[in-house]
Amino acid sequence: MDNQKEQFGMLLEAAEKAKKNAYAPFSDFHVGAALLAKNGQIFTGVNIENSSYGATNCAERTALFKAVSEGVREFAAIAVLSDSEELIYPCGICRQALNDFVDDDFIVVCGNCRKEYEVYRFRDLLPHVGIPLFE
Ligand code: THU
Repeated sequence: MDNQKEQFGMLLEAAEKAKKNAYAPFSDFHVGAALLAKNGQIFTGVNIENSSYGATNCAERTALFKAVSEGVREFAAIAVLSDSEELIYPCGICRQALNDFVDDDFIVVCGNCRKEYEVYRFRDLLPHVGIPLFE
């Protein structure tokens, strides 16, 4: 458990560091994420907004896409935080994107700017979509 706490702390730290690279000129809402692969690698991500608003990419998907494009597809946990004192939670699109790559026990660490956090099991955040669509 202590080990897990340490791991969450490390992920939040990585997300916090990454956050400085957030590109959010439209919302001014800076988000950082850190995705822990089962092999121990950490992939960070930030939100990248766009003047065509719908092209915006969230921090969580940036981290996921970086990892997958580097050949890593198995993940244990993700941490996400912003400048806000409110905890933040992955949006629906990010949950769906993660769903193709994680198992039910994947851990989501939802943090805030004070490094406070809550821990969720992925399947509790996105229930009832466990059936592979094309099998
Ligand atoms: N955003 C994220 O990057 N992750 C979240 O979990 C919530 C929202 C970004 C998208 C957009 O750039 C800004 O935060 C405001 O919604």
